[in-house]
Amino acid sequence: MKLLQHWHPVIESNTLKKKPISVNLCGKEIVLFRTSGGEIGALYNRCCHRGMRLSCGWVEGEEIVCPYHGWRYKSCGKVFSPGTPKLNPRVSSFTTVERHGVIWIKSADSTATFPDFNVENYLSAGVLTHEIQAPLEFVLDNFSEIEHTPSTHTYFGYSSEDISKVQTTVKTKDNSVCVNNKGIQRYLPPIVQKLFFNVHSGDWFFDNWETFFSPIYSVYDQFWLDTVTEKPRKLRLKLILFFIPISETQTRIMMFVFASRVVNKLIFQLLGKPIVRFFINHELILDKAILENIIDKDIPLNQMQLGRFDGILAENRKRINRIYRNDSSRVNV
Ligand code: FES
Ligand SMILES: [Fe+2]
Repeated sequence: MKLLQHWHPVIESNTLKKKPISVNLCGKEIVLFRTSGGEIGALYNRCCHRGMRLSCGWVEGEEIVCPYHGWRYKSCGKVFSPGTPKLNPRVSSFTTVERHGVIWIKSADSTATFPDFNVENYLSAGVLTHEIQAPLEFVLDNFSEIEHTPSTHTYFGYSSEDISKVQTTVKTKDNSVCVNNKGIQRYLPPIVQKLFFNVHSGDWFFDNWETFFSPIYSVYDQFWLDTVTEKPRKLRLKLILFFIPISETQTRIMMFVFASRVVNKLIFQLLGKPIVRFFINHELILDKAILENIIDKDIPLNQMQLGRFDGILAENRKRINRIYRNDSSRVNV
């Protein structure tokens, strides 16, 4: 499957108003526009006439108009040239949907299935988006191991004293990989414990995830147990993190954040959501900063000195090449 045939989340729905927007995805520029009827169009951001960016144009009715000579595009890819009406050109288009507050696209001729995730009984804390100056593989590497949590993160994960004792298991399937981690929650200042709905320093912290490859995303299940009673804490997080290549050297991450019903819906909207978002976003910014400082972002795995948490990296690479890139000859394994 070619990259643009997978469903990719691109921007939050409320970002697209009357004005068309250009987004970069898999090395291509794509224009998104909302028609008067509310339909979302997505086309390559290039006028088939003489190459003008369609995103510099405007929407009229159900069409986007190229600002150069006024050619008009429907979201299905039909083009009308006012100056040469008999021409009837056609361009490739994308299928679009709005789901979970985000616009998703895939090539119109693709049969890829939508990456549905089950978040029943969870409350949504919205989406967090970051653009990272690092290739897709390196970004996925970072979110596929917890060894970096003591040194990279502030509150999330395990301490450097306990990291060697964290139990990690990996299970591979044809089209996905699962990783389970169990260890001791690192120190959390008392105020953070309170804000995090009584998760305690020293709790058992479970960080389990499954990664899928069409498109590439990981579903994290994070929860805590009191080490004495073995009872779960109230807070449980479900984080769905999409890894979206913008180009060969840049990756966008979009994280859909869900939390267990720690409080009622209204209080969650007013208090829980901003708290959960603040802490998760803080940790994502640290991931971005560390990734952008890797000096050699071309190095293959066989030239790295890998540790006990890194076996998953090769499993991910194999599936990225086979399922996502459809290119088993790629050497970066
Ligand atoms: S370049 Fe778009 S109409 Fe001419
Ligand atoms: Fe991290």
